[in-house]
Amino acid sequence: MTLTFDLKSAILALSDALDLVGVNDFQHGKRVAMIARETALVLGLPEQRLDRIVCAGLLHDLGVSSTAVHRRLLRQTDWDDRRAHCETGYRLLRPFAHLSLVANAVRHHHTPWHELPAELGESDALDSNLIQLADRVDGMLLQRGLDNPLFNNAGIVDAITALVGSVLSPEVVRAFAAAAAREAFWIALAPRHVLRYLGDLALGEWRMTIDFPQFGHVARLISSIVDAKSHFTAAHSVGVAQLARHLGKRVGFDDDALAKIEVAGLMHDVGKLCVPDEIVDKPTSLTPLEFSVMERHAFETYQILRHIPGLEQVAEWAAFHHEALNGHGYPFRRDAGRLSTEARIVAVADVFQALAQERPYRGRQQAEEIPRFLDDFVRQGVLDGDLVAVATDDLDGSWRAATLPLAGDEAG
Ligand SMILES: [Fe+2]
Ligand SMILES: [Fe+2]
Ligand SMILES: [Fe+2]
Repeated sequence: MTLTFDLKSAILALSDALDLVGVNDFQHGKRVAMIARETALVLGLPEQRLDRIVCAGLLHDLGVSSTAVHRRLLRQTDWDDRRAHCETGYRLLRPFAHLSLVANAVRHHHTPWHELPAELGESDALDSNLIQLADRVDGMLLQRGLDNPLFNNAGIVDAITALVGSVLSPEVVRAFAAAAAREAFWIALAPRHVLRYLGDLALGEWRMTIDFPQFGHVARLISSIVDAKSHFTAAHSVGVAQLARHLGKRVGFDDDALAKIEVAGLMHDVGKLCVPDEIVDKPTSLTPLEFSVMERHAFETYQILRHIPGLEQVAEWAAFHHEALNGHGYPFRRDAGRLSTEARIVAVADVFQALAQERPYRGRQQAEEIPRFLDDFVRQGVLDGDLVAVATDDLDGSWRAATLPLAGDEAG
């Protein structure tokens, strides 16, 4: 496959996805990246290190997909379980040739300075402490209000200074105090300046081309964050991806197209990261207000994916999984004339896989019961009848593809 991607745009898209978990604490990772970078600038660190620190800041909460955990992490610094997400983030980043460069900083962003393991290199130790400092600063700022960070930062420098020697390194705290003495440091943290700040960075360290299989690894990483959000949806995205690939193969798509369809399946629910846990796990039907929050997820998926150059089509296939051929789906109200076969495949795979899993409001369906549900959706004008027939004619194969998490290509 000739399709290649820019790692920088993949990292920024991943950061956008992680931002969603903050719900109202939006852009937390991005501000942590800014605060850590501004502090590192005072330390005189070279450009390449600054780029790594930005990446570590953007991705530091990679191990958090629960909105409740995110909320607690930012408000309760003495929470006993707060380090679990550091290990998860480390585990997710380690296997990637390039992203593994920031795995240690992510792993230790809640480890106190004096408890950092001796075997950690000097630069990883400093980077992890910079992220820890920035994380704490942003937590305090969020509690005081982001409407006017310059006015609302009172007491933050003193509170950070009190952590010298135990939690934070004296060097890092001194640099932060110098950076924070400038009004511009705080003004830039207001929501409308944050994107511009990051957009202005060249991030040369991450300007490299990755091929489609490498991008597929990033997609898998994102899907594992999404699937970890609720035990009900464990392996849902992977199952949808596998079934979509399986169906695509049966209708004759070539390997390149199948790889893209699989990525669409992996990413289709990335927007769900913005839906609060209590709505995702609600055992009774959603109120109109809750449903409006749930309905946003496909739109968010679209916004995240379409900003990755080369992924424009995949963004559509992924984001249109709740559209219906009769035009009554959501949120774009596309109809049959504007829904590609690939998008229809992802929609069928999504419904099939969801039926094969328990949901908070219903039990899991047996394989033999699935065709009845799918046929109903065909009759209502929601799903494509030909593709549903492809899925149900070989019910065993479809079921295996949808339910064997990470079974890989054998499903195809
Ligand atoms: Fe954080
Ligand atoms: Fe969805
Ligand atoms: Fe889904």
